[in-house]
Amino acid sequence: MSPSSFLRAVWCLLLILSIAASAQPPASPHTAPIPTQIPGQNAILVGAAWYPEQWPESRWEDDLRLMEAADLKVVRIAEFAWSRMEPSEGRYDFEWLERAVNLAAKHHIVSVLGTPTATPPAWLTQKYPDTLRVEPDGQRVTHGNRAHASATSPRYWEFCRRIAEQMAIRFGHNPNVVGWQIDNEYGYALMSYDEATRRQYQDWLKAKYKTLDNLNTHWTTSYWSQTYDNWGEIPIPVGGHNPGLMLDWKRFIGYTWTSYQQNQIDVIRKHAEPRQFTTGNFMGFFDGFDHYTITEPLTFASWDDYVGTGHVDPAYNGLAHDLTRGFKRQNFWVMETQPGAVNWSPLNNFTNRGEARAMAWQAIGHGADDVNYWQWRSALNGQEEIHGVLVGPDGTPVPFYDEAAQTAHEFAKVESSFRDTVPLSQVALLYSYDSHWAIQFQKHTEKYDDIGLLKSYYRALRQLSQSVDVVSAYAPLDGYKLVAAPSLNVLPKDLADHLLEYVRNGGHLVLGPRSGMKDEFNSLLPQRQPGFLVGALGARVQQYYALEKDFPVSGAWGNGQASIWAEQLKSQAPGDEVLLKYGKSNGWLDDQPAVITRAYGKGRITYVGAVLDDKLMAAAAEWMTQKSGVTPVFGPVPDGVEVSRRVGPGKQVFVVINYAQEARRVVLPHSMKLVLDGKQGDAVDLPPYGVAVAFDGR
Ligand code: GLA
Repeated sequence: MSPSSFLRAVWCLLLILSIAASAQPPASPHTAPIPTQIPGQNAILVGAAWYPEQWPESRWEDDLRLMEAADLKVVRIAEFAWSRMEPSEGRYDFEWLERAVNLAAKHHIVSVLGTPTATPPAWLTQKYPDTLRVEPDGQRVTHGNRAHASATSPRYWEFCRRIAEQMAIRFGHNPNVVGWQIDNEYGYALMSYDEATRRQYQDWLKAKYKTLDNLNTHWTTSYWSQTYDNWGEIPIPVGGHNPGLMLDWKRFIGYTWTSYQQNQIDVIRKHAEPRQFTTGNFMGFFDGFDHYTITEPLTFASWDDYVGTGHVDPAYNGLAHDLTRGFKRQNFWVMETQPGAVNWSPLNNFTNRGEARAMAWQAIGHGADDVNYWQWRSALNGQEEIHGVLVGPDGTPVPFYDEAAQTAHEFAKVESSFRDTVPLSQVALLYSYDSHWAIQFQKHTEKYDDIGLLKSYYRALRQLSQSVDVVSAYAPLDGYKLVAAPSLNVLPKDLADHLLEYVRNGGHLVLGPRSGMKDEFNSLLPQRQPGFLVGALGARVQQYYALEKDFPVSGAWGNGQASIWAEQLKSQAPGDEVLLKYGKSNGWLDDQPAVITRAYGKGRITYVGAVLDDKLMAAAAEWMTQKSGVTPVFGPVPDGVEVSRRVGPGKQVFVVINYAQEARRVVLPHSMKLVLDGKQGDAVDLPPYGVAVAFDGR
C-alpha cells in the first residue's frame, strides 16, 4: 500500500467513526442552528435587496416574476425608505410596503424588513438639526448622504423608536415578514463628537469607575498630568490619547450602538410575533465595536460580504464567515454580497464568471443559511447608481442574473441536505476586540497586523483540520482539542483563569506574540508576558523586539524566518521544551528560545513568540494538530481546493470548491451522494470555481 493510500484508508476509518459519532446531533456543538426556521422555506436561501420605493408600482410584479424565475426566496426591503414610510412628522404610510410584501409573497418570496434609521428624512434633520452627527473637527454633517444621524441623540432615538414601533405594529403579524434587520451597518459612521456625547461618555465612565480616584488609578493619569478632578474634564479622544481612555471610548461606542439597537429591538419584540427574527448586517472585521456584545440580543448575526477590488481570497473570506459565525456561535446570514462588482473600491472590477457562485457556496459551507445579493436593480440616480445588480436600469436581467439564478436553483435543489446542519470544529481561534484595539493603539511597528497574524494561523490550521471556529476569548472551550490565541494582548485574571481551566482539563492552548501583556484597563500587567499564564507555561518573555528585518529561527518545526516581531523567551520551570530558537540576529535574540511548550494539568500550553513565515507556520500547525489529536474532517484535497463540512442528525454534508485556475480532481474519503448532480461517486472533477456538494448519511 502506498503512503498516500494508507493515509486515505486511515482517513476513511476516522470518517466512518465520526459519522457514527454524529448519528445524533453533537452533544454540545460549538455552533448551533439558527433558532428560527422560516416556515415552508428552504434551509438555504438566496435573496436580494429590493427597493420598491424607487419604482412605479406597476413595475413591481415584473421584478418579482424575474426573482421567482431565478429561485430567489428572500427580499430585504425598506431599510432606506423612511421618507416613504413617514413622509412628514407623525404621518405614516405603510400601504405601499404592505402591498410590496404581499406581492412578493404571491411569488413565494418572504420579506425581511429593515428599519430605516440609517437614513433619516430631510424633514427630520432640518427641523431637528441636533439629530445630525458632529464630526471630530466639530462640523455638523449636512443632509444628503446616509448614516448622518447621531447615535447618541435622545431626540433621534425617539424618532427611531417611533418608526420601528409603527412598522412592528403594522408588520409584526404579517405572515410574509420573517424578520427584521435593525438599521443598516451600524457604526459605519462611528460617533458624534458633540458636547452631549461627551457628557454621555463621562456618565458612562462614572457608572463604570464609581470614583475618579479609581479611574485615575487604572488609567495611571499621573502620567503627563492627566489627573481628572471632576468627570466633566474627561475628553473624547481625537488622535493620540491615554490608552486606558481610548479603550474605554471604544467600549462606550459599543455600548452606545448596543443600546441604540436595543431601543428598536424593544418595540419590535413588543409587537412582533416571536417567529420573526431580529438581526443586524455587520461588516466582517470592521472593528468599531465589540461584536460579541452587540449581537447578544439578536436572534442571529448577519454580515455583508464584499470583495471590492480584486478577487476572493478564500482564506480571508472563510475567516470572515467563521468570525461572524463565532459572534453568537450560530449559523448566520450573508445579508449582502456583490453581484459581480461594487462601486466604492479603488477599482471596481467584476468577479470572474463562476466566482460569485463559488463565494455563495463557500458561505453555506461555513454556516450561512442565506445569501442575498446587493442589489436587485440599479436605481436611476443616487450615490450607488452604477453598483453591480441582477437587473439593469432598463428592467431586464444583466448577464450576472444567470449566475445568481444558477446558484439559487442549486440551493433549492439540495436544500434538504443542509437542514439542521452546522459546522463542527475541533480547533478554535480566539479573537478579542480589546486586544485588537490595544495593539492598534500602540503597534510599535507599523507592519504589525494582528488580523494578518490571525489569518496566517487560520490558513495553516484550517488547511489541516478543514474546519475552524473563531470565537471570543471568553467562549466556552470545552470540547476543542486545540485553541490558538494569536494576539491575546489584553489578558486579565478572569480570562487567564478561563484559559487555564481549559488547559487543566486537557486542552492545548497556543499563544502568539504580545500575549498576556495588559489588563482590562489597557495597563501593563505588573509581571512579564504572558502575565497570569507565566506559571503554567513555566516561562516568560524577557524582552520584545520590533524587527527591521527578518531573523533566522530553527528547531523542531524546521528552519525559517521570524519577521516583524520577535520575543526572547526564558524557561523558568522544569518541563519546558524549547521548540524554536533564534539564530544569529540582533545579539539579544541570538540562540534564545522563540517557542516554548509545556504540559500543564491534563493539557498543554505553548507560547510562540514571533511572527513566523508561511512555511514555518504550516509546520507549526502540523505540530499543533498532531500534538492535540486534531483530525481533518474530510481528508486530503489538492492545492487550491477548499472543503467545508456541516453536520446534522445522522448526516454530514461537504461543500468542495476549486479556487485554482486549473481543473482539480478531488477524491472523496468514500463514496457519497453528489447532490448537485444527483449521482453517487467517490471522486469529483472540478473546473476552476467548480463546486461539489457531497452528502453522507440518511
Ligand atoms: C453596504 C450597504 C449597502 C450598499 C452596499 C454597496 O454593504 O449596506 O446599502 O451600500 O454596501 O456595496
